[in-house]
Amino acid sequence: MAPGFPEGGARFPMTTENAVQHETVMAALATVNDPELHRDIVSLGMVKDLVIDGGAISLKVELTTPACPLKETIETDVRAVLEPLEGVTSVVLDWGANVRASSPKEGQKPIEGVRNIIAVASNKGGVGKSTVATNLAVSLAKAGASVGLLDADITGPNVPTMFGLPNGLQAGATDGLRAVERHGVRVVSIGFLLPKGTPVVWRGPMIGSAVRQLLHDVPWGELDYLVIDLPPGTSDASMSMAQEAPIAGAVIVSTPQDVSLEDAMKAVAMFEKLDVPVFGMIENMSYFIAPDTGTQYDIFGHGGAQQAADELGIDFLGEIPIEPAVREGADRGVPVVLSAPDSASTKAFEHIAGQVAARLSVLQRMGT
Ligand SMILES: Nc1ncnc2c1ncn2[C@@H]1O[C@H](COP(=O)(O)OP(=O)(O)OP(=O)(O)O)[C@@H](O)[C@H]1O
Ligand SMILES: [Mg+2]
Repeated sequence: MAPGFPEGGARFPMTTENAVQHETVMAALATVNDPELHRDIVSLGMVKDLVIDGGAISLKVELTTPACPLKETIETDVRAVLEPLEGVTSVVLDWGANVRASSPKEGQKPIEGVRNIIAVASNKGGVGKSTVATNLAVSLAKAGASVGLLDADITGPNVPTMFGLPNGLQAGATDGLRAVERHGVRVVSIGFLLPKGTPVVWRGPMIGSAVRQLLHDVPWGELDYLVIDLPPGTSDASMSMAQEAPIAGAVIVSTPQDVSLEDAMKAVAMFEKLDVPVFGMIENMSYFIAPDTGTQYDIFGHGGAQQAADELGIDFLGEIPIEPAVREGADRGVPVVLSAPDSASTKAFEHIAGQVAARLSVLQRMGT
């Protein structure tokens, strides 16, 4: 029987003596820690809108990201301290999120309205960077964040196709590139200016200026996260973007083959040189589960990225299986996290989105 109710179900009249006290509730909440930030949710200022009506408690927990992977843990812990309190009859918990802005490094120009930039990189082509960037952006948007995606691959932009947006859709525009909202994400790609198949040859100084324009001349609006799909490798375009953009952190995509891991290590080294934090490594095309038998096949080997991450002393953020739905989604312009929301790859992408968002929150907390 719920405390506060006598036998027979009639409610005790709530008097000041048996009403739950504000201080009691706050003291109990002050024993709940944010599992990532390792501090209590009261001193972190996460407890909002606390209302105590007799024995009924309602409150809002304001997270540092709507994609918080530890919501359930926080809810369990909050309930565990509030529900046993004398006189408490119900606890209603609501969620909010206030995504903070990362501060740019000295000499870097912030991008107006953009709170955090996440770069998706690899040192090798074809490992699934654009696929990861796309599904990461859509997963963060699905969680409730305002998200942009910048296709920084200026020589081979393929983000428009992955979002079902026609190449060249802004070719005649006189006011420059504009973000196009699709699947809840504001997308920008140089492909919007070029009809499909147009080869682009960029010469040295033009690369830097194209990169600056992509970052600073596009009105992004207010964004919690801007995901940047970097071109493969340590090309000029990739380096310019990594230098010019105030990147809060980078994720490195790798496939399990050894050669790709060597390459991924080079990407990690590039970011270290530029003083950009690396959130961790992702293994794409990790394994394949036969849809008919459920047997798992490690086509390219499995677990290599985890091992490399360990060797490099960086975090491993998750593994994504090879699934036909991933490629089909990309080709049809509907990312797999929307076209097959219950698939193993969707779960993997959503897990990774939570990991990345959580690391960003931790990094910001350390910087304050
Ligand atoms: N987990 C996966 N399962 C099935 N297909 C995948 C997976 N990841 C990527 N692909 C497919 O592999 C191909 C390459 O992926 P993608 O274009 O994302 O790689 P990339 O690293 O961005 O390549 P580039 O270096 O050319 O920019 C695409 O056809 C994509 O749909
Ligand atoms: Mg790509």
